Amino acid sequence: MATTVLESKELCKTYIVDKYSNNVLQNVDFKLEEGEFTAIMGPSGSGKSTLLYTLSGMDQMTSGRVIFDGEDLSGMNHKQLTGLRLHKMGFVFQQMYMLKKLCIMDNIILPGYQANTKSKDEINDRARKLMHNLGIDEIALNEISEVSGGQLQRACLCRALINSPKILFADEPTGALNSKASAEVMKELRNANKEGTTILMVTHSEKVAASSDRVVYLVDGNIKGELKLGKQTDEGETAVRERKLKNWLDEMGW
Ligand SMILES: Nc1ncnc2c1ncn2[C@@H]1O[C@H](COP(=O)(O)OP(=O)(O)OP(=O)(O)O)[C@@H](O)[C@H]1O
Ligand SMILES: [Mg+2]
Repeated sequence: MATTVLESKELCKTYIVDKYSNNVLQNVDFKLEEGEFTAIMGPSGSGKSTLLYTLSGMDQMTSGRVIFDGEDLSGMNHKQLTGLRLHKMGFVFQQMYMLKKLCIMDNIILPGYQANTKSKDEINDRARKLMHNLGIDEIALNEISEVSGGQLQRACLCRALINSPKILFADEPTGALNSKASAEVMKELRNANKEGTTILMVTHSEKVAASSDRVVYLVDGNIKGELKLGKQTDEGETAVRERKLKNWLDEMGW
C-alpha cells in the first residue's frame, strides 16, 4: 500500500503588505505518496512557489497543518527544521542561491559534508557523477560569477541531490535551460526518483510536466484539479502523454 510522505490539511498562507492581506494559499489539502513524481502547474502568481515553501517548512504557514514523514512541521523549532531539511530534503529554488566564496564543486559537496553520513570520497564521487550526468563537469572549479544561469541551475540540482534526499522540492528546475539541458535535468530527476526520492516540482513547461506521474493545477491558491499520468516507463509514450496533458490544461484554462 502507498505510504503518504507529505500531507497538508487546510493549509493557509496570508501575506500582509502595507496593511493589505493577500490570502495566497486557501485551505489546501494535498497528499504526496512515497516515490511519486508530481508537478504543480498554474498561472503566475497562483501560489506555486508559496506552496512549495510552506510544504517544506522553509516558510511559516499562517494556519493548517503539514505532516512530513510522520512528523508535524508546525510543532518543530528552527533547529529541528534545519536538521530535517539537511538530512531528508533537497531544494532547487526559483531564485538560484549559492555561496559566492566557494567554487561550484564546494557548493555542491557542502551539504554532504554537513550531513556527515557518508565518507568525503563517496560525497565527492557522487558530486562528480551528478555533474557529469548534467553536463557541467567542466565548471567544477569555477566561481559562481563565472558560470551561466543554466549551468548554475544544474549545479543547484546537483547540490539538492547530494544527500539522496527523501524528498526533492524543485521550483522551475528547467526555467533557465534550453531543451537539451532540460532533457538532461528531467533524466536526472527521473534517476533520482527511481533511486527512491519523492519529487514535487513546479513547472511552466508542458513538456517537463508530461513526464511526471501526476500534475496538480493551482489557481488563486486552490487546487483546481489533478491529472494522473502514471509513471513514464518508455520514451515512446512521450507524445501521447503530452497530448493528454495539453487537452487537460486547456480544460483547466491554462
Ligand atoms: N514574500 C512575500 N511577501 C508578500 N507577498 C508575496 C511574497 N511571496 C509571494 N507573494 C505573493 O504571493 C502570490 C503568489 O506568489 P508565488 O510566488 O507563490 O506565485 P507563483 O505561482 O510561484 O508564480 P510564478 O509562476 O510567477 O513563479 C503573489 O501575489 C505574490 O505577490
Ligand atoms: Mg514561483
